[in-house]
Amino acid sequence: MTKKILILSGSPVKKGNTATLVKWLMEGIRSRGAQVELVQTAFLKYKSTGCTSCRACQKLAKYECVIDDGARPVLVKMAGADVIVMATPLYFYGASSQLKLVMDRMFSLYKWDNQAGTMQTPLKGKTLVLIASAFEDIGLDVLEKTFSITADYSGMKFVSLLVPNAGESGDIKHKDSIHKQAVALGRRIA
Ligand SMILES: Cc1cc2nc3c(=O)[nH]c(=O)nc-3n(C[C@H](O)[C@H](O)[C@H](O)COP(=O)(O)O)c2cc1C
Repeated sequence: MTKKILILSGSPVKKGNTATLVKWLMEGIRSRGAQVELVQTAFLKYKSTGCTSCRACQKLAKYECVIDDGARPVLVKMAGADVIVMATPLYFYGASSQLKLVMDRMFSLYKWDNQAGTMQTPLKGKTLVLIASAFEDIGLDVLEKTFSITADYSGMKFVSLLVPNAGESGDIKHKDSIHKQAVALGRRIA
């Protein structure tokens, strides 16, 4: 069956390092004939600066955020994908706020019953892929941990491609070995 791959790219730079890594990943994915969709979270229209913690999603039967803006259909797509790729530059040892805006709204993709101590999510069984680059070689491990814990918690498999010493936006284009790794990862997850 054709795999559905959803990529959330969290860089505000249109032709920077994250965009290049995503382009290379898509090269690999497409070579295997998988279905791939790219969402640039920096350019969605939002009505709130992240999850408002209103908890209204917890009262719905479906997995949907009640805030009707650009993030809502993306969250629905996440529930329907086989593989979710999150691509981000390292910003102060974490994900970019442009990606985090959507990530926190993932609250709507879980249903918790705190009395019973249970949690259900349509993310279970999917694969989460992290692609991240940084100028230095410090902190990508910290970033990776937050994503790998989220994957574990959600019952997802986890894969990552971390690129330290990536330089400034656009510099990564000249790194052939990273190109090969990104294409290979795309083929692997497709
Ligand atoms: C706001 C901001 C914060 C950054 N923080 C870090 C950092 O903590 N550590 C680091 O090594 N690089 C940091 N960088 C550099 C970027 O992570 C790096 O150049 C990345 O490859 C850029 O990807 P892009 O071209 O997709 O934006 C920062 C850059 C910006 C603009």
